[in-house]
Formats: sequence, C-alpha cells, structure tokens
Amino acid sequence: MAEKKLFTRKEFENLRIESAKDMAADKKLQADALDVLVRADQYRWIHQTNWLGEPILNLPQDMFAIQEIIFKTKPKYIIESGVAWGGSLLFYSTLMEILSGGQIIGIDTYIPDDLKQRLNSHGKISERLTLINGSSVEQDTVNKVKALIGDCREVMVVLDSFHTHEHVLNELRLYSPFVGKGFYLICGDTIVEDIPEQEHRSRPWGHGNNPKTALWQFLKENDRFEIDKEIDNKLLLTCNPDGYLKCRKDYYF
Ligand SMILES: C[S@@+](CC[C@H](N)C(=O)[O-])C[C@H]1O[C@@H](n2cnc3c(N)ncnc32)[C@H](O)[C@@H]1O
Repeated sequence: MAEKKLFTRKEFENLRIESAKDMAADKKLQADALDVLVRADQYRWIHQTNWLGEPILNLPQDMFAIQEIIFKTKPKYIIESGVAWGGSLLFYSTLMEILSGGQIIGIDTYIPDDLKQRLNSHGKISERLTLINGSSVEQDTVNKVKALIGDCREVMVVLDSFHTHEHVLNELRLYSPFVGKGFYLICGDTIVEDIPEQEHRSRPWGHGNNPKTALWQFLKENDRFEIDKEIDNKLLLTCNPDGYLKCRKDYYF
C-alpha cells in the first residue's frame, strides 16, 4: 500500500505561498474574479455581511486578510477612517479582545446617536472602541488620535472613507507616521482603478482619481512602506488590490 504523504506545517506553508503565486499569475482567473466582483456589485454584494449584527461594507475575504494581519502583528491600536455601520470596528475589537490587544479608534463625519448606541451595546467589545466624529483629514481629528495613542507605533491603520485621490493621499500622509516597522497601513477600495466606472452608483472618484492612484503617488514619496504581495497573491477576490502596505522602517519625528 502506498504511504500517505503528510506535509509538515512548514511544507504546507510553502505549498500555499507557491500556489498563491501561481494563482496571481493566472490572468484569466484574475479577470474572471474581477468580473464576478463587478457584476455582483450591481446587487450590493459587498454590503451583505454582518459582524455582531452590524453591517461590514467590505468583502469577507478582505476581513479575513485583516484578521490574519491582526493576529500576526498584534497592534496596540487600530485606527479606521470610515466607520459606516461599524461592523468592521466590532470585528477588530472582537479580535483585540481575544488577543488581549488594545484600542480601536473609528473616525467618521457621520456618527449618529443610534449608531453610537448600537456600537456601545457589546460590553467588553464596546469598551475598546473610541469614536471620533469629524473628517479624517482635519488637523483637529489627527490631534485627537495623537492624544489617544501617544508615542505608541504598534498601530494598524485602515483608510476606508472618502475615496478620491486627494483625500486618500492626505490620509496616507497624515496617518502613515503612526505606523511603526512591521505594522500595516491598509488602503481600502484601490479596486476603483481596476473596474469599469460605477455608473449604477455615481461617485466623486473613478479612474485616475481614487485610492490606488493616491497610493502610487504616496509610495513614490515615501520609502517606509511596501506592498505586501503575499497577501495580494492569495486573495483573488479583494476590494484592496495592492492596498496592504507593510511598514519597512520606523518614522522619526
Ligand atoms: C466605505 S464606508 C466605510 C466602511 C467601513 N470601513 C466598513 O468596513 O464597514 C465610508 C465611510 O466614510 C465616511 N466618510 C466620508 N468622508 C469622510 C471623511 N472626510 N472623514 C471620515 N469619514 C468620512 C462616510 O460617512 C462613510 O461612513
């Protein structure tokens, strides 16, 4: 009888990484996946998931990637610009609770009282949340974030608010200094550059004016971050292609 081949954990890891590289190189599969995303967006597919009952406006695939980053890096703070219904904040906070991590800071221009009440109704998970009502690019907001995190640079940032080039570039410049070596800066909705213009949902952003173009400019002017291609390679379905930036070196004020 042939002996069953068992992988060691390390061998399996290598197999996964190599398979993901091959998948990323499969242009037809990548194009088909993008096509699924574009067609499903007609039906608000990315709006269909909840965490603790609250909507997350992102793909589960991206949330799982973020879960892996949180587990691997164990940030003391997570800053997210763009709260919407707050499901993503509750998701990060649940993970922080399991991992004995720190605090979550959510920034949005619109945080109504009923949303605050729902986000505050989850006991220990809620206690980790701080909401800042204001624009992410206002100095007052940045000052509030600074006051909360102090000198800590064990920080993960998720930029998922207003997706124009100018706004995201501003956010990248304002929030990247908080992220220390080994931690992640995630630039959301870079997919806008790759998909047809969203005629079914009119937006102030589009081709040439979106998070990916902002990220390209930011990477030209800042050598502290690099795109984590290993994450890109394995996602297949993602709203954030090239948007997972890993910090390579610390920032000195
Ligand atoms: C895509 S949604 C965020 C989704 C959320 N991160 C999630 O995963 O469920 C974008 C949010 O950005 C907010 N927003 C728009 N302009 C903003 C600004 N200048 N500063 C902060 N938030 C802003 C909107 O109010 C909206 O709630």
